Amino acid sequence: MKLQTDQIEVFFNPHSVAVVGASRNVNKAGHVIFKNFAENRARGIFKGSLYAINPNETEVLSYRCYPSLSRVIDPIEVVVVVVPSQFVPQVMREAAAKKVKAAVIISSGFREVGNIALEEEIKGIAQSANMRLLGPNCLGVYDSRTGVDMIFLPETKILQNGNEVVVTPRPMPGNLAIVTQSGAFGVAALDYLAGREMGVSKFVSFGNKADVNEPELLAYLMEDRETEVILLYAEGIAAGRKFLEIAKEVTKTKPIIALKTGKTSSGARAAVSHTGALSGTDKIYDGAFAQAGVIRARDMDDFFHIAKAFSTQPPPEGDGIAVLTDAGGPGVMAADECDTRGISIRKLSDVTLQKFEVLKDQQKIPKFAATLNPVDLTGSASSEMFELATKILLDDPDVHSLIVIGLHHVPGLDEDFVDRIANVTSQYRKPVVACDIGETEMAMYVRSRFEKMGIPSYSSPEDAARSLVALVRYGLYLKKEGCYDAYLANMTRKKTRGPK
Ligand code: COA
Repeated sequence: MKLQTDQIEVFFNPHSVAVVGASRNVNKAGHVIFKNFAENRARGIFKGSLYAINPNETEVLSYRCYPSLSRVIDPIEVVVVVVPSQFVPQVMREAAAKKVKAAVIISSGFREVGNIALEEEIKGIAQSANMRLLGPNCLGVYDSRTGVDMIFLPETKILQNGNEVVVTPRPMPGNLAIVTQSGAFGVAALDYLAGREMGVSKFVSFGNKADVNEPELLAYLMEDRETEVILLYAEGIAAGRKFLEIAKEVTKTKPIIALKTGKTSSGARAAVSHTGALSGTDKIYDGAFAQAGVIRARDMDDFFHIAKAFSTQPPPEGDGIAVLTDAGGPGVMAADECDTRGISIRKLSDVTLQKFEVLKDQQKIPKFAATLNPVDLTGSASSEMFELATKILLDDPDVHSLIVIGLHHVPGLDEDFVDRIANVTSQYRKPVVACDIGETEMAMYVRSRFEKMGIPSYSSPEDAARSLVALVRYGLYLKKEGCYDAYLANMTRKKTRGPK
């Protein structure tokens, strides 16, 4: 199915933008949005022209302010509408007369509060002018590369003590795209990703989706060179059949990780008053997502954990998982979790077991180390043992991926074990995830060091296992669809963050 993705491109990379409702009042949404564009323009990131529209001002942030769109002589490609809902139809009529290509309506007060007629009215105006419409009741678009930033939540705030703090960080450029029905959740996701130093390519909050909806956004992101992984938050999915057709196409080249809420009758009711979404039967979504190769996260943590794994690791070639640990219990926990999720941890091959026996004879790993899988180096583990064992495991053709649970508490383990493991793993195209448990200094160091070395790291064995299993399942899906090799050939993210 071919959708007109060139009509969507303009939202992310416009030549000219007008903010209708641009205000000098720093506490207003229209001020923040205009300031975002003005600052990105001053920095040379946003390269388009910028216009402020507000009948009550003559100048906003040193830009001339026009009383209405019709008073701007130059063409305008995109309007961002930030005025109360009752004024939106008039703004849309002016935009239509000016042959604006796309409108983003941030304003609330439409279908989500029962004001269906008002929503239909603006939709009608857009349709008859061949103007694309994002929203209403949305946060619009953020593009880390083009400097388009319609997020009305300020990046920093001044606290009562006079200190300036970051409140809504914009993440660095990266390969994750966020497509979200909930603006607030989307922004929380940006905060999480910025904090974890996970980069974002594009962010789009589509709110009530009066016009532009999930299938079109997915089709657009499928072609987007900056995006390698798509994160989707949805309460109810519009155009179900179309969504499935597009999603099936997209997942052959890019993973879609979905958090679909409104699963229960209480949640579904909340979704109706949030974005007017009809959530549908949850079981149907489960089946549909599985059919289309969409990875469904069970909750918010799962969503981010899986995203982290996909943003740096390739899907494995098969379902052979090895667990390497210095901690028996957590090794069992990881094995349990893999099994619960349908991927059992198999015994290692005789060749690999023999290699471990040789290491035992050479006293390079403890005689009492367990090697059947999980491989448990025990509390006598050292950095060198982790390095040797990682290599042996990844050399095994039946081991397609690895979970390393290196609890830092054991006496013989130096902090360099992370770098040693990362140096070994960077020589293979097999996904690796890591885990260290604890909330004090060393645990924090180990986890963040793993991530700096390009290995996603988790604070529980189950989280690590679940994230890896999602990769395994996606790898199996790609194989089944016959597109695994093409996928790997196109993939740039694997080991792009390699050892530093
Ligand atoms: N053209 C241009 N500017 C206009 C206008 C028009 N037709 N009508 C009003 N304005 C100006 C106002 O004069 C004001 O500027 P000022 O500060 O210089 O006086 C500015 O637009 C904003 O109008 P105002 O009435 O002050 O509204 P507001 O800023 O308090 O609220 C919204 C506007 C859109 C933010 C608000 O109605 C809203 O919908 N809030 C919820 C947004 C939301 O949560 N969206 C979903 C996110 S997920």
